[in-house]
Amino acid sequence: MAAFEYRGERLFVEDLALDELAARFGTPAYVYSRAAIETQWRAFDKGLGTTPHLVCYAVKANSNLAILNLLARLGSGFDIVSGGELERVLRAGGDPGKVVFSGVGKNEQELRRALEVGILCFNIESEAELERLNRLAGEMSRRAPVSLRVNPDVDPKTHPYIATGLKEHKFGIAMEDAVDLYRRADEMPHIAVRGIDCHIGSQLTDLEPFAEATRRVLVLADELQAAGLELSHLNLGGGLGIRFRDENPATPAVYTQLLCELLQGRSFKLLIEPGRAIVGNAGLLLTQVEYLKDSGAKHFAVVDAAMNDLMRPALYQAWHDIAPVYLRTDIESETYNVVGPVCESGDVLGAERTLRIAAGDLLAVHSAGAYGFSMSSNYNSRPRAVELMVDGSEVHVVREREGVAQLYVGESLLPD
Ligand code: LLP
Repeated sequence: MAAFEYRGERLFVEDLALDELAARFGTPAYVYSRAAIETQWRAFDKGLGTTPHLVCYAVKANSNLAILNLLARLGSGFDIVSGGELERVLRAGGDPGKVVFSGVGKNEQELRRALEVGILCFNIESEAELERLNRLAGEMSRRAPVSLRVNPDVDPKTHPYIATGLKEHKFGIAMEDAVDLYRRADEMPHIAVRGIDCHIGSQLTDLEPFAEATRRVLVLADELQAAGLELSHLNLGGGLGIRFRDENPATPAVYTQLLCELLQGRSFKLLIEPGRAIVGNAGLLLTQVEYLKDSGAKHFAVVDAAMNDLMRPALYQAWHDIAPVYLRTDIESETYNVVGPVCESGDVLGAERTLRIAAGDLLAVHSAGAYGFSMSSNYNSRPRAVELMVDGSEVHVVREREGVAQLYVGESLLPD
């Protein structure tokens, strides 16, 4: 079953019509399909088959507690990048023993908390971070499990804002410095070297950069083993792309098969950190047309969702399919710029879209399950959208729509 499909003229998510969800819960609304999320996670897990492995969902893609909880129930691990994400995972029932911690700027409080709850591995991004972690682990009488995140200097051929695996990027440790730093790490009393980590970018639609990065990591693994360092796992990061428009990324099955082939004959446990490929096409943003207007040069469909709800089009010029929730035949089609109410010309959810719509109609902005809600903001003092999880013919409110009063919690007036 496709997560989102038309039945007659109406767009459904699983067994519920989106127009009914809009009537019950209002718009804008993020709507997720439980079945789609579970299917995608299982595809990665199944694809890695008998290779010892752990699929660590990248929490930043969508950190709603219900989603984390669903994945925890399936046995998922988690890739986190902040103390906030760690607390979310714990709150959602995730196992700290399956958590890996990435990111270039982990602060002392975050490192201490992760040591305290006993995470699986710290993905270390610099020598300074390694020293800090060794000191903190010493103070807490622990040994911190680490991987060094190496930068394999491979071009992922993706949008420059989401490419991370080149030398010019802030991420990781240069390959040529890695062996020395591993030696140092191995001598540190409160560090336990566990593996190698790498992540080269996001929304990769070509498998070759993954293969090249993996080959480079394996060369390093051989060097380290020759130097007498024991490694138990390789973490190959996330980054598998999805179809937004006409891209043809590999399926999780094909991608995992490639990884298994590359690792054949090795005894490492394989960790991966997919985010977008698990949740991206399992969610959409439901919005209503407020006004149609004509500037003389362009037709605009002004909708009630905006760049604060879904930032990707404004930030990355990302293309999201925008489709009517009800297929009309009674209106001529027109080419619209679908824009939000935010006071910025960049607040465009989709440019030049041919649609048959009238004011009041509902639109679905597709492929919004990843980096949609998690990147949303309150810009223009807009309360954040409600989040709904559909499970067959049931719907669960997994995050209530924000109220205006919540927007200024913690703010105060100056004294008279
Ligand atoms: N692991 C690490 C270390 C990462 O930095 C990321 C994403 C992932 C895993 C998950 O990557 P994925 O499988 O989701 O591609 N906001 C951007 C994407 C930023 C990705 C940042 N890192 C977007 O909306 O396209």
